Amino acid sequence: MKMEKKTPITRPIWLDEDSGYVRIIDQRLLPHQLVLVDLKTVDDVITAIRDMYVRGAPLIGAAGAFGIYIAALSCPRDAGDPGAFITEESRRLKSVRPTAVNLAWAVDRTLAVMAPEKTLDAKTRAALDEARRIADEESENCRKIGEHGLPIIEEISRKKNGETVHILTHCNAGWLACVEYGTATAPIYAAFDKGIDVHVWVDETRPLNQGARLTAWELGRHGVKHTVITDNAGGILMARGMVDAVIVGTDRTTRAGDVANKVGTYLKALAAKDNGVPFYVALPSSTFDWELDDGARIPIEERSAEEIRRVAGFDGSEIREVLIAPEDSPCANFAFDVTPARLVTGLITERGICQADAADIRRLFPDKRA
Ligand code: MRU
Repeated sequence: MKMEKKTPITRPIWLDEDSGYVRIIDQRLLPHQLVLVDLKTVDDVITAIRDMYVRGAPLIGAAGAFGIYIAALSCPRDAGDPGAFITEESRRLKSVRPTAVNLAWAVDRTLAVMAPEKTLDAKTRAALDEARRIADEESENCRKIGEHGLPIIEEISRKKNGETVHILTHCNAGWLACVEYGTATAPIYAAFDKGIDVHVWVDETRPLNQGARLTAWELGRHGVKHTVITDNAGGILMARGMVDAVIVGTDRTTRAGDVANKVGTYLKALAAKDNGVPFYVALPSSTFDWELDDGARIPIEERSAEEIRRVAGFDGSEIREVLIAPEDSPCANFAFDVTPARLVTGLITERGICQADAADIRRLFPDKRA
């Protein structure tokens, strides 16, 4: 079911108390249409994650957790042991998008709290509670990322005697991707709310334009000054001293600090290094892969060639797709890349800032295990 929503919303996923359904924003249609969609079956959740109604690592995690709740709800009540059914649904959910580690993390965490419960009804309640807890925790983590990242922007502002601080970001690592506040955007919102003069260069982020569509929409709604640029403009802006810092999100960061994020991030990190621009990555602990050292082993999602071949936009009355490449030209759609730890100035987490190396990450997160 789809519906138009007129009242303001602050989260991209929640349980609607009136209908009892898990409700999301269909992010494919933003900024042109704000449409809400109810997720009623595990297939609905899979479609929403795969086709990117919901996207962004923390949000994919929360959606996966709500997906387990929906799996428990839809488990036949007379089927005997629900374990096999829920395990199979969790396997389907975890395999939808491979790069963001949050999806498997949130699904496994939800399964773990259900396991000790004896009845299907109790398992279902436990799954819902855990999905809501994950969403609330990610929101709070992002708020803290904002707190810890704020001094970086304050310091730049001080050094520039209050002149505009220019931040470049890639893709959408805002509240739409994260439940609330965002990761990369949290320090920006915190600085803006404190009265710091901040301006954001927003990479459009081809092929699906999460920057131009989503980050620009978010920043505009909050009143933050921003300018949408092509993905390739960052280099010249950095070379001309027009970027004070880069802040991006991540879909998976190894325990040694290699960072997978939306394709194009690596090139920004190279340009930042060459121009002496600090390059920060903001992430909640759920986005660390505590098993992996080497970023080369992070699975990189390859998506449909059609996303490259065509582009979608609003023609004044409806959203339409047009062809931009020869219909018969092969296209390759690598959705993420890996920025090596050596190019990362620092990781902004809910526990503070650390260097992108195994020892410093371990210092902040001594309790995290593979
Ligand atoms: O393909 P997407 O839109 O899910 O990719 C999202 C990103 O690359 C984000 O930067 C990342 O998930 C971090 S979100 C806080």
